[in-house]
Formats: sequence, structure tokens, C-alpha cells
Amino acid sequence: MKFGIICISDRCYRGECEDKSGPAIAECVKELCEKSEYRLVPDVQIKIAKALCELADEEKCDVIFTTGGTGFAPRDVTPEATKAVIEKEVPGISEAIRAKSLEITDRAMLSRAVSGIRGKSLIINLPGSPKAVRESIEVVLPVLPHAVETLSGNTQNCGGNYEK
Ligand code: MTE
Repeated sequence: MKFGIICISDRCYRGECEDKSGPAIAECVKELCEKSEYRLVPDVQIKIAKALCELADEEKCDVIFTTGGTGFAPRDVTPEATKAVIEKEVPGISEAIRAKSLEITDRAMLSRAVSGIRGKSLIINLPGSPKAVRESIEVVLPVLPHAVETLSGNTQNCGGNYEK
């Protein structure tokens, strides 16, 4: 599987702090990961959208994780950038992440993260802290192989009556 990882943070982009969440994502997916692409962008909607399109359309990443910019701060626009580029929403993924995260912290309800599909890429927003990244990603890891297989057009293991 090819992964895209986008860290969205003004402070990391300006070099005022180190991105610890991008590496946390890479660590969590290492067993599924054959190749990966990394981008660091500021909290600017058009730049986030451009990075998402590049990783989906040119780099052909199977799964793209973003980290950061999902909260209430005035500059948090990751969900808006994501919604602008996806063709189909996948609400269940973000609902599952929030439901599991709520068992850990009430603040999980403050993440406005979304998930969706662009072309053959699955885009999943994660919150910004490395702790939140680990807690969130473990919820989705088990379904990623099947999700990617289905997105690529292989419905053999879906179990539904797709073709009779
Ligand atoms: N989800 C999990 N699993 N663990 C967390 O610690 N932190 C929350 C929430 N989701 C958190 C979480 C907090 S404090 C915020 S403000 C929102 O994610 C948004 O985070 P972001 O603005 O860094 O994207």
C-alpha cells in the first residue's frame, strides 16, 4: 500500500516546532506500507487542497492521512480543504474514530475531521497531536486493506451480491 502523510501546521511549517505526528502515522502504518509520500503545509485551505490533489492524482497514494487543523481554532481548515477535493464522503470512518476516541477523552467531539474518496485514494483527517493520531489510526487500520482493495475495483471479497 502507498501512503500519503500530510502534516498541517503553521508552526511546524515555519520551523518553530518539529512534526511529531507525521512520524507517528508512519510508525503506525509501517506494516502495511510499501511506499510513502510526506508533505508539510501551513493551515491554508488552498495549500492543503493542493497537497491532497497531488498525493491522490499524481502520486496515486492508496490512503492519505492528514494530521492537524481539524479543531475550532480560526485557522483550522483541514476539513474544509478535504471536503473541497473529495468526490465521495466516507462518514463512517470519522464517526468510528470519534466514537472510539470519546471513550478516551470528551475532547474528541471537538475534532471536525472528515474522510472521503478522491479517485482511487482514501483521505482520512486525523487530529494534530501524536497521542490523538495513535488513538485514531488504530481504529481504522484493520479495515484499510479491504477498503483499498475495493477502491481499486476488486469486489471479490465484499460478500455482497454485486454480480450474480
Ligand atoms: N482524539 C483522540 N483520540 N485523542 C485526543 O487526545 N484530542 C482532541 C480531538 N480529538 C484528541 C482527539 C482535541 S483536544 C482537539 S482540539 C481536536 O481533536 C482537534 O485537534 P486538531 O485541531 O489538532 O486537529
